[in-house]
Formats: sequence, structure tokens, C-alpha cells
Amino acid sequence: MPVRYQEKDRAAVVTGVGGWVPPHVVTNEDLSARLDTSDEWIRTRTGIRTRHVISPGMATSDLAFEAGRRALASAGDPEIGAVVLATTTPDRPCPATAPDVAARLGLVGVPAFDISAVCAGFLYGLATAAGLIASGTARQVLLIGADAFTTIVDPKDRSTAVIFADGAGAVVLRAGQADEPGAVGPVVLGSDGRSAHLIQVPAGGSRQRSRSRSCDPGDEFFQMEGRETFRQAVERMSTTSRQAVEAVGWTLGDIDRLAAHQANARILKAVADRLAIPAGNQLSNISRVGNTGAASIPLLLAQSAENSSLTAGHRVLLTAFGGGLSWGAATLTWPRLPAS
Ligand code: UT7
Repeated sequence: MPVRYQEKDRAAVVTGVGGWVPPHVVTNEDLSARLDTSDEWIRTRTGIRTRHVISPGMATSDLAFEAGRRALASAGDPEIGAVVLATTTPDRPCPATAPDVAARLGLVGVPAFDISAVCAGFLYGLATAAGLIASGTARQVLLIGADAFTTIVDPKDRSTAVIFADGAGAVVLRAGQADEPGAVGPVVLGSDGRSAHLIQVPAGGSRQRSRSRSCDPGDEFFQMEGRETFRQAVERMSTTSRQAVEAVGWTLGDIDRLAAHQANARILKAVADRLAIPAGNQLSNISRVGNTGAASIPLLLAQSAENSSLTAGHRVLLTAFGGGLSWGAATLTWPRLPAS
């Protein structure tokens, strides 16, 4: 049922968070046994020690469901008016995965759709959820970021197989006021399709159809030009972070916690250095979970809230960069959550 538009409650306010990773852990030693790589290379070049990988039969919707369920519980199981799922690895090309996840969560009848913005998907989803709330389409939105990157990465490609992993994170947002804890500040987004080739799965879409079964070798897999992606990630996340902080009226010195997309520990350090954010104010879980795509930021928020490195009152800067190219940043003051 459409909600009644209320002028005064137009901001999106975080009321719950949840994260989930599949139980199966893959270590650097496991990867070194089947790839020309080493624990030392992976640790020093990426900061990753372990990652979680889905088991046979499991799909992105399973990850999304579990993270969504936890976020709803954390928010006190509110009445949800829309479900947004950011993912690059939907269960199938058509239809979207969000309606399936919504139905499994008992949310039949609400609008539910996917967002495709690769590793920036959660921030694109945040802007979309905020828009659904501001327009009066929904008063409470479940936003999930979930990816099973190991299903599209070439297991023989050492430059991507050691980085990308599987997981999910979610937040619940409700209509509220811009000056209350949990309110999401202006979400700054950007894209540059001229460099789409840097991060892509060339086949399986309308250009190289999966039906033809004749795509170029390797084109069914995720491909990334690491070095240039690295450079762009540092530049875009730093610049857009400054814009988001300025848009909300803060300074970089106000930031208590940086929650950046966990792409590579060296990227995280370079971004934090550029923004002059001290090491103690940077949230990180990359050593344990790797790069989980659209799940990265909400999973980081959930795990950081759980281990108390993120607590009520912290002023948080979120930023992400990924394929498209696409990027974004936003701010929020971490709220006191009902179930925390
Ligand atoms: O999620 C959003 C977007 N993704 C990112 O932001 C990721 C961005 N890129 C990266 O994180 C890094 O570029 C990588 C981790 C992918 C690669 O690290 P790098 O330090 O940029 O290495 P490189 O690509 O410059 O390669 C250096 C060397 C090469 O060997 P040669 O040509 O110097 O002999 C690679 O072949 O390292 C080699 N190499 C590896 N060696 C051992 C690449 N991957 C591996 C590996 N193990 N897994």
C-alpha cells in the first residue's frame, strides 16, 4: 500500500544492520596449492589472509537472505515497504534476485529490485533507498549488498582469484529527520563508462550472448586490469569522500570511522593517507573476508558494530569504487540500534 507523503520525514535513517559470510574458509595456503602464488604475495600485495566461499548449491540469494534476516532482527523486525539488493552475481540473469529474497523473508507484495553497480552497489543502493523514502514510496527499506564473486572469477586467474570472495551485508532504513543519529547524509555518486573495460564480464549479456556458446575464451569470467583499477580506486574514493564530507557540512577531521570498500589493504591505506584519517579510525575486515563486492561496506559495518570498533555516535564516512566505472561516498552518524 502506498505510504502517505510526509514532508518532515524525508531523510533515510539506519535502524538495523546485519552481515553473513558462508562458513567455508579458504586460506592463502589453499590458493597457493593450486595457483602460482604465495601467502607472502597475497598478504603483502592485498592484505588478505582468508576469505569465505559459498558451498556447492548455495547462491547469492542465500547470502542475501541471511544478512537481510539479521538486519531485520537488529532493527526489531519493522514493517518493510521495499527491498533493494545490490549485486553483480544475481542467481540468474533474469529475473532480479531481490523479489525471491523478499519472499523468503516474508515480504511478498512489496517492491523489490536489484541494483547493478559492482563494488559501488551498496552506495548506489543507499541513494536509491533514500530516494524511495523521500518520494514516499516506502517508509522503511531493507537494503542488502550480496555477492558470490567466486562464481564468476576464473579459478585459474591468480590476479583475481586471490582477492574476490563471497558474503552479504544489509541495513534497514526508515523515514526520519536529517539531524537525527543514523540519518544518511547526501550520497555523492559518479561513473565513467569510458573505462568499463577495466572491470568486466564480457560475455553473457546482449553483446556476447551466452546462448551462442561461442564467446571468446575466458570472456565468461570476471576480468580486471588491476594496476589501472588500483589507481582509479584511490583517486575516485578520495575525491568523492571529500565531496560527501563537504556536502553534509563536516570536515575530514570530524570523521571518527572510515568504512571504505575493502578492495585491497594498500588501496585503503592510500585513501586514508590522502584523507589524513589515522589508522585507528579505519574500519577493516579485508584480512578475514577479502573483497566481497557490493557486500563489502554493509558487512564491514555489521562486523565492526558487533566487535564494538563502531559504536553509537561515531561519525562515519562510507566510500566505494568498482566496475562501470562507478563510485560513491556518504556520511552518517552511527545510531544506537535496538538490538545492540
Ligand atoms: O573492488 C573494486 C575494484 N578492484 C580493485 O580496486 C582492485 C585493484 N587492484 C589491485 O588490488 C591490485 O592491482 C592487484 C592485487 C590485482 C594486483 O596487485 P599489483 O601490486 O597491482 O600487481 P601487478 O598487477 O602490478 O602485478 C605485479 C606482478 C606481476 O608479475 P610481473 O609482470 O611483475 O612479473 C603479476 O603477474 O605480480 C604478479 N601477480 C602475482 N604474483 C603472485 C599478479 N597476481 C599475483 C598473485 N601471486 N596472485
